Amino acid sequence: MQKISMVDLKAQYEKIKPEIDNAINEVINSTSFINGPAVKEFQTDLEKYLGVKHVIPCANGTDALQISMMALGLKSGDEVIAPDFTFIATAEVIAILGLVPVLVDVDPETFNISPEAISKAITPRTKAIVPVHLFGQSADMDAIMQIAKEHNLYVIEDACQSIGSDYRNAAGEWKKSGTIAHIGCTSFFPSKNLGCYGDGGAIFTNDDALAIKLRSIVNHGMTVRYYHDDIGVNSRLDSLQAAVLKVKLQYLDEYVKARQRVAQAYNTAFSNRTELITPVLSGNSTHVFHQYTLQVHGIDRSMLQEFLATKNIPAMIYYPVPIHLQKAYLDPRYKPGDFPVTEQLSKTVISLPMHTEMDEEQLRYITSSVLEFLEHE
Ligand SMILES: Cc1ncc(COP(=O)(O)O)c(C=O)c1O
Repeated sequence: MQKISMVDLKAQYEKIKPEIDNAINEVINSTSFINGPAVKEFQTDLEKYLGVKHVIPCANGTDALQISMMALGLKSGDEVIAPDFTFIATAEVIAILGLVPVLVDVDPETFNISPEAISKAITPRTKAIVPVHLFGQSADMDAIMQIAKEHNLYVIEDACQSIGSDYRNAAGEWKKSGTIAHIGCTSFFPSKNLGCYGDGGAIFTNDDALAIKLRSIVNHGMTVRYYHDDIGVNSRLDSLQAAVLKVKLQYLDEYVKARQRVAQAYNTAFSNRTELITPVLSGNSTHVFHQYTLQVHGIDRSMLQEFLATKNIPAMIYYPVPIHLQKAYLDPRYKPGDFPVTEQLSKTVISLPMHTEMDEEQLRYITSSVLEFLEHE
């Protein structure tokens, strides 16, 4: 049996090697390493795929979030609401910009930001909300956009884990994750559902004026060379990464299906086990399973993780510490117990290997190993 890893990028590359190698060689031969044709081509392909007016490529997902907040003109002291249960980047950029991260709890079933909690956290200083489409399914965007409208707030979707996922709004229209709010952000980190071979990211918007601002900020705040109208950053997607992404974008839907197949196999295997809660689908979003995350009940999570490790099956905890309990983010506004759902999830979640190249033998081995552990508990 092939070695099991959380993500098998090698096997994925092997399947599309000639196309990827050609694309990379083309960039090298052209020596257009920065802002070469591959960047514009990928941008156009992604705009088409997402059905969004503007894609602004940038260097990574963290930058995408930071640049979005800069483009919206958020000022020091402005409050930005974000979930307590997420990867640190979401809150990090708020703090870096001197804005105030206002953390809120998440839904116990979908793990996504709770609209009720958002409503309770709004103050006269609130300027924006950053819902994270955690693990691959959209947050409750209808409710969030409604709250934003009522309070005149911006919404920036953190779609770093959800590219390719579809959201059905109250009008019955399907929209791609990241294209619903004022701005959407994604990451092309190698292990992401659409991953490049280094760092990469992108910002999405349907707003023409915002797109101009975003394009300026990613490139040192200039629209005309050496004339700087905005304070910007240097955050470009390399041509080499764009070339890889252009090839891989063609396979994104296929990759999503492969992940959903793995999730389905896990769900079926664990369906009768009361010790495991399998991922709950929200009903208005497809799930692209960036992670397949179980909640354990009445069993020792670390013993399960250790048992799987003895069988050479990796399992990860995303995320073991809520943001309000992270050392760098300790704040007199928050104390242990403030976000009970996040705190509970940080103790009970465990993510199993999830990738596009998982075969039946590996799946059987993983599921039977988990079940074997449960039998002996
Ligand atoms: C939810 C979330 N937000 C932001 C990021 C940051 O993306 P990047 O690693 O490309 O900076 C990631 C990915 O790592 C993420 O998962």
